[in-house]
Amino acid sequence: MKTEIVRISGEEPDIQALRYCGSVIREGGLVAFPTETVYGLGANAFNDGAVRNIFTAKNRPADNPLIVHISDYDMLSGVADFNNEEERRRLMALGAAYWPGPLTMIVGKDGRIPLSVSCGLETVGIRMPVHPVALALIRESGVPIAAPSANASGRPSPTKFSHVYEDLNGKVDVIIDGGDCSVGVESTVLDLVSKEPTVLRPGAVTREDVMAVLGACEAYDWKGLEGKVEKPRSPGMKYRHYAPAAETTVYAGTQGAVVARIQQEIGKATEKGLRVGVLATDETKKLYKEAPVVLSLGKMGDSFAHAERLFDCLRTFDAQDVQVVFAEAVSQDGVGDAVMNRLFRAAGGRIIECIEED
Ligand code: TXA
Ligand code: MG
Repeated sequence: MKTEIVRISGEEPDIQALRYCGSVIREGGLVAFPTETVYGLGANAFNDGAVRNIFTAKNRPADNPLIVHISDYDMLSGVADFNNEEERRRLMALGAAYWPGPLTMIVGKDGRIPLSVSCGLETVGIRMPVHPVALALIRESGVPIAAPSANASGRPSPTKFSHVYEDLNGKVDVIIDGGDCSVGVESTVLDLVSKEPTVLRPGAVTREDVMAVLGACEAYDWKGLEGKVEKPRSPGMKYRHYAPAAETTVYAGTQGAVVARIQQEIGKATEKGLRVGVLATDETKKLYKEAPVVLSLGKMGDSFAHAERLFDCLRTFDAQDVQVVFAEAVSQDGVGDAVMNRLFRAAGGRIIECIEED
């Protein structure tokens, strides 16, 4: 398949180009597009065949449901069928605070949404993105857009046009080049169907942000998740994700202990002839001179920067043929919880606590 590349900037969206891409979606094609979180691979959410093609293009497991993207509240009808008034009240209250934005809310599903979107669940995840190109694309297509992240399944999510091109060129109708994504980690997935609202996947809208509006919110314990849960509440959580090809390990603890431990590990791996990558911070990157590839997530404690850069760093390790990655744990404040969640999963759950030696 020949993939068309259409360049649309977020600052001055080209309305002709958006209309064209909207018509591709409406008529059953696949369009990859930028959002504030990561790039998405979109199809008309009402078109079962088109949605199935997303799974083929990404090589995505058939039991992992897609998020439906809307551009305004009118589009809720035909997508959501609230189980009760409380569900609707929660969605409207959170929508007023955080939509458009990086929050996906799970509610009862309308019968018009095909099984290919929900993968057999009675619920649907809905998001109104804030990226101007994403919003305009949905508006111009005139239909809600079902879209997972626009990576090949198992690879780190795409935060730049080049990432999408790498994974999907030749497999989709259009890739929109809309520049880099500002948030950099996928949206918060929030279950509004269960008794207490529950964060299933952490993102830029935090549990505290939800509590501020609804008064209560639980969070799925993602650290206890790896390999243990047969039927997780969010099907996507069970897959090893975001993973670079290199075996990745995360080191946590005081800065001194972590740096000393990673330096030791670099020595051991180099002796074995392995090509080493280190994921560090601006303050620590110069301490790993023995490693051939050292990348920084940004200033220590700057969780927004870490979120924006994480997936690009993971892809860079792959591009540089790194075989083992040693990563420093970062702050879990705010969006940092989402960063650590993705890093934890890239590492297949390998986090090592480092103790200071004296
Ligand atoms: O930021 C984002 O959310 C990006 C952009 C494109 O919007 N999309 C994205 O989609 O990350 P995806 O498919 O890569 O991740 C969707 C996650 C998966 O973990 C999936 O299992 C979960 O949301 N999910 C979707 N519908 C669900 C449902 N009805 N119940 C539980 N989990 C659901
Ligand atoms: Mg994904």
